[in-house]
Amino acid sequence: MAVFKVSFLGLVVVMALFSASTLSLAHPAGFNFGWGSGWGSEPSRGHSGYAPAGGSFGLFPQFYQFSCPQANDIVISVLQQAIAREPRSGGPNWDLPLGRRDSRTASLSGSNSNIPAPNSTLSTLLTFFNRQGLDEVDLVALSGGHTIGVARCVTFKQRLYNQRGNNQPDETLERSYYFGLKSVCPSSGGDNNISPLDFASPAKFDNAYFKLILFGKGLLTSDQVLLTGNGNGNGNAGKTMELVKTYADDESLFFQQFAKSMVKMGNIRPLTGSKGEVRNNCRRLN
Ligand code: HEM
Repeated sequence: MAVFKVSFLGLVVVMALFSASTLSLAHPAGFNFGWGSGWGSEPSRGHSGYAPAGGSFGLFPQFYQFSCPQANDIVISVLQQAIAREPRSGGPNWDLPLGRRDSRTASLSGSNSNIPAPNSTLSTLLTFFNRQGLDEVDLVALSGGHTIGVARCVTFKQRLYNQRGNNQPDETLERSYYFGLKSVCPSSGGDNNISPLDFASPAKFDNAYFKLILFGKGLLTSDQVLLTGNGNGNGNAGKTMELVKTYADDESLFFQQFAKSMVKMGNIRPLTGSKGEVRNNCRRLN
């Protein structure tokens, strides 16, 4: 089966480059691309309502050879150059289902009601993920996406100054980390100052994010509660804590599960066929 391979960092690069394309992603090593119709290595589990009846809704193999043979080589070449320029490194690769299209609508209230806030309790995070057919394994593995990137002061300020409405910091914050964060994020103003989500290796896809959580150095409440929080009554109390420890111990297990959970997340009601559109500019409707 022809497939298109992707890594998290490749995804970042290629999404920036090919927002107007039905193609999606690439494998940074080897560049042995094929245009595929296939599901990823792990078909979606646990959310049957979202799976297509026919099993696949990707582009068929050789789609571009029929529709636009020149595109294959051009796209591969641009991808190679873009990925070679990408300074961030590391992380797993996975097979990416293709043929997904962009939405013609957006809903602020829909986003706000479906995306958990950074100060969420573990119970809230689990409830939001469960609603989308994602379980505690997906929650912990996907939160590992915070091995890359930064967050603004406004998203973690509450932890530093008033975590529980009593003008006290979050007691799960490690002390020296807490003082460092305070210097970046004052109690008033500075909302757009940024801090790395994984300060040990903010540009490397690795498992340092989980190691830091074990030391009380997760940046967001939603990061730290994976270790310290209680479950949501669905028999998951303690499970996320175990998973954080497991991924801190075993990077390759984290990589494997991250790839599976990314495919699973990507299978949540994607627009395919003639639904939606292929945007010329990914930030705007055509
Ligand atoms: C578990 C629920 C999650 C919460 C509450 C959450 C929250 C946040 C917040 C508040 C930020 C900073 C945004 C800002 O300051 O503007 C952030 C950044 C980020 N998140 Fe998440 N996130 C979650 C899940 C995920 C998932 C599933 C992924 C990917 C698999 C992800 C990947 C990222 C990345 C890469 C950044 C850095 C962006 C940048 O540097 O520009 N997050 N997240």
